[in-house]
Amino acid sequence: MRELVFAANWKMHVGPSEAREYLAIFRHAYAATPNKQVWFFPPAVSLEATAGALDHRPDLLAGAQDIYWEPKGAFTGAISGPLASQAGARAALIGHSERRHVFGETDEQTGKKVAAALRTPLVPVLCVGETLSQREAGETLAVVTRQLEAALAPLVPEAFAAVTIAYEPVWAIGTGRNATPKDAAEVHKAIRVWLKSRTKAFSRILYGGSVNLKNAAELLAEPELDGVLVGGASLDPAGWAELVRTAAA
Ligand code: PGA
Repeated sequence: MRELVFAANWKMHVGPSEAREYLAIFRHAYAATPNKQVWFFPPAVSLEATAGALDHRPDLLAGAQDIYWEPKGAFTGAISGPLASQAGARAALIGHSERRHVFGETDEQTGKKVAAALRTPLVPVLCVGETLSQREAGETLAVVTRQLEAALAPLVPEAFAAVTIAYEPVWAIGTGRNATPKDAAEVHKAIRVWLKSRTKAFSRILYGGSVNLKNAAELLAEPELDGVLVGGASLDPAGWAELVRTAAA
């Protein structure tokens, strides 16, 4: 049976004390289930509180929403892999569409961040996905492949298995309009073809973009999906516990 990852991206929500309250409710509402892992990506300021509130449960993990590629130095406002790790992170989102489109992060920078995460080590969750105009222009696979190429080609192929990939079409993030399971599967398959052309190792591929309690089960019924990356619907601890419990039960 495939192992599923349910990743919660809290974005710029949930401060340290809120994170402790959230996790207390979540842990009570959700007991560990075989083949399911739940990953939490709080804002950096709440990382230590989140990691501390996981209560040593092996099925739960905390991660950073972004890291800078240098390990330390005069980089005001940034956090490095080693600093995130010291605060309890075991994974890091890299190249989330909001980093790319709001903060102007480039493909080349995502490559440096993936390599930095692997050096720490943190599990990089590399986010890729096309905008609506790129999809309408039939450029989805070209864009996703370009993003993969930039972020992963500098690595030795044996390292690819340590990278989790999240396919997150930009037009589906926070819009209430999710990709259909078929649309998501088509891109996941193309990502696997790209990976297979370089390595035999398996990489986990998550889908993200308007996943919620209503559509999660249908999306996860698609065997191409190894899990989901969820923003809005992960902010309520009871609702998130229910989603993790009931999707792919
Ligand atoms: P959403 O966000 O679930 O609110 O669409 C997903 C994400 O940005 O990772």
